[in-house]
Amino acid sequence: MGENTTLRWLMFFFLPLLFVYGLMHVYSSKPAQAKKTKELTAMEEQGRKVYNKYCVGCHGPNGDGNSMAAPFFKNKPPNFHTAIFRWKSTPEGTLPTDEDLMHILNWGIPQTAMPSFHLVPEIQKKAVIAYIKTFSDRWEKEKPGESIYKKLNGVPEYFGTQESINKGKELYVMNGCNGCHGDTGKGDGAAAASLPVPPTNLTYPVRAAGPKPEDTFRVLTVGLEGSPMPAFGYLSEEDRWHLVSYIAYLMNQGKK
Ligand code: HEC
Ligand code: HEC
Repeated sequence: MGENTTLRWLMFFFLPLLFVYGLMHVYSSKPAQAKKTKELTAMEEQGRKVYNKYCVGCHGPNGDGNSMAAPFFKNKPPNFHTAIFRWKSTPEGTLPTDEDLMHILNWGIPQTAMPSFHLVPEIQKKAVIAYIKTFSDRWEKEKPGESIYKKLNGVPEYFGTQESINKGKELYVMNGCNGCHGDTGKGDGAAAASLPVPPTNLTYPVRAAGPKPEDTFRVLTVGLEGSPMPAFGYLSEEDRWHLVSYIAYLMNQGKK
């Protein structure tokens, strides 16, 4: 009789309990829901749906970047609760502009897991931008910083000339870029292994910041907040353009 009771207990009590426990697990990984205190606007609610369709798997249900996929990425997804963005055109310590966020969604962040969503309709991207802002109340209290693109009038004449490339190459060593990005720009400098985020391989033919020389100029000017990449806005504008010339040269080397 004893053996039978154990088996019965297992069949009628323990196994269903295990099943219910399993179900609880499935349903506890709820889709994203930020901003508990307030109702979402219609736009934010639409954005939540877009987020749950395209973003939740990597950025996590709470928007803090703690997703099951995150441990597999070299570059971790950001924490939207701090509203600290790396890939933006505004000075350190300030919020990005909507154009910056739209740019990220359209271009993606090449060489990282962040894909491009250029095929997703504009209206859905606007909605998801509105939604990711609900993760941090900084967006209610602060205004985005001034975009550096506003001060730029295209690319200077000397950009890309041999002379400018040579100057850029000198500046690259003088300013210690090689310490992180390596002597030949491959991202293998002496400090590279000890950094929390790998330095970009600058010979890769596509830039994470964007397709234009202005986008690289922007990174040099404002840096990448929250990553080891410093801002070099203290260098003269001309020196920063020489560095962009040199980086464009390295990118072409990468294409060969
Ligand atoms: C396959 C994984 C993946 C998917 C899907 C994904 N992301 Fe990302 N995302 C990342 C990673 C990884 C980063 C960090 C890259 C970096 O900064 O080096 C990132 C970065 C970002 C950034 C830039 C943060 C910064 O610091 O500037 C924004 C904004 C962003 N994602 C929004 C979204 C939105 C909105 C969606 C959905 C429409 C989405 N992502 C879908 C992986 C993903
Ligand atoms: C302390 C280390 C460090 C130094 C010094 C440094 N960088 Fe970086 N740089 C990085 C890291 C790390 C990244 C990638 C950050 C990320 O993915 O979030 C990066 C990213 C970049 C990018 C963005 C690449 C893209 O695809 O858009 C450019 C351009 C760049 N660095 C150029 C330079 C130049 C030029 C200098 C010198 C004037 C320099 N860096 C100095 C660590 C460094």
